[in-house]
Amino acid sequence: MISAVLYNSCTGSCERYARELGQALHLPVYEAKKCPVPKGREVIFVSWVFADRLVGLSSVTKHMTLAGVVRVGMAPAGPGTENACRGKNSLPADTPIFCLQGRFDLGGLPLPLRLIMKVKIKDIARRLSAKEELTPGEQATLRMALDGKGEPATWDGIQDVIAYYRH
Ligand SMILES: Cc1cc2nc3c(=O)[nH]c(=O)nc-3n(C[C@H](O)[C@H](O)[C@H](O)COP(=O)(O)O)c2cc1C
Repeated sequence: MISAVLYNSCTGSCERYARELGQALHLPVYEAKKCPVPKGREVIFVSWVFADRLVGLSSVTKHMTLAGVVRVGMAPAGPGTENACRGKNSLPADTPIFCLQGRFDLGGLPLPLRLIMKVKIKDIARRLSAKEELTPGEQATLRMALDGKGEPATWDGIQDVIAYYRH
C-alpha cells in the first residue's frame, strides 16, 4: 500500500505534479527532506533531473520502498528517456518510471545551478534551433533556453500517472 507522495523541487514543477497526484490518489504529499513517513513504507517519488540523475533519490531509497518514480526535466521525454533514467539511477526493472516535462526558470535557481545552466541553455538553444521541425515539447524547451524561463508544452502528463495508480 502506498503511504505518500514525496517530492524534490527547485522551481515548483515537481511540487505541482506531486500535489496533483496526491490529491487525485488521496495520499499525503511531503517534501522528501521533511518526510514524516515511517521508514520502510512505500512511496511515489517525484523529482527533477540534474544531468539525468534524479535529485535526492538515494536519500529516499535508503529508508523507503519505491512504488514508482516521476522524472521531471526541461526536455520532453523521448523513446529512450525511461531506459536512460533506469540505467543512470540504477532503478530496478519493476519500478514504474513516468517521464514528464517541467518548467525552467533560470532566475529561480540557486546561484551555483544558475551558473551551470546559463552555459548549458546556450548549447540547448543552438541544438534545437538547428532542427528543421520541433515537437511542441521541443518548442517549449527552446523557449526555455532562449528566454531563460518557460513552461512545459503541457502539464497534463500527470493524468497518465494518476490513471496508472488508480487501476
Ligand atoms: C543544474 C541543472 C541540471 C539539469 N539537467 C537536466 C537534464 O539533464 N535533463 C533535463 O531534461 N532537464 C534538466 N534540468 C532542468 C530541470 O530538470 C527542469 O527545469 C525541471 O522542470 C525542474 O523541476 P522543478 O521545477 O520542480 O525544480 C536541469 C536543471 C538544472 C538546474
